[in-house]
Amino acid sequence: MAVKKIFILFSGNGSNFEAIVRALHKREFSGKSGGGLSVEVCGSLCNNPNAYGVSRAENLAIPCEVLNHRDFSSREDYDKALVAKIREYSPNLCVLAGFMRILTPIFTKNVQAINIHPSLLPLFKGANALKESYHSSMKVAGVSVHRVSEELDAGEIIAQECLPKIEGESLEDFEKRIHRLEHSLYPRVIIEVLQESL
Ligand code: GRF
Repeated sequence: MAVKKIFILFSGNGSNFEAIVRALHKREFSGKSGGGLSVEVCGSLCNNPNAYGVSRAENLAIPCEVLNHRDFSSREDYDKALVAKIREYSPNLCVLAGFMRILTPIFTKNVQAINIHPSLLPLFKGANALKESYHSSMKVAGVSVHRVSEELDAGEIIAQECLPKIEGESLEDFEKRIHRLEHSLYPRVIIEVLQESL
């Protein structure tokens, strides 16, 4: 049984973080070539000390490092400390789940990471994706999981799922549906990515 460790980064609510822990932590999956795969969420990190996700980590008994970006004078210095923290846990994969930071090459060149984004990339990159997708004239919305690269929300797309728009739906209800989709898609994709290296 191969044990694969994942380390999760988040900034705020942490609902994806919790969904991933509940779906994958200490669970076993069958590997593509027959052998089994066991997943451990070995740790997590948040850049915001007041984030609700930090309490989720405590309740889920997942170690959580708080690395406040306000304590650093440049993105590069922050990313150096971030990479060092991640290395302490030696994960097989780093999973970004609502980590609202622009990452420098110090991170992207040193950490293998994936991210979830609430739109059908390459449409609606950036922090306002969900609202822009909601207000667009498109008939479908969706979510994407992609590899993290130097360019924001532009790494190789690994998986996408569509969500049909519902006429007259409120932004709040649309957001709930997007999040439900994220919570079911992301754990499945993490397993697929971990299986690649079996
Ligand atoms: C999600 O919509 C994710 O796609 C985006 O940030 C949001 C995080 O939500 N990158 P949560 O903190 O997991 O609840």
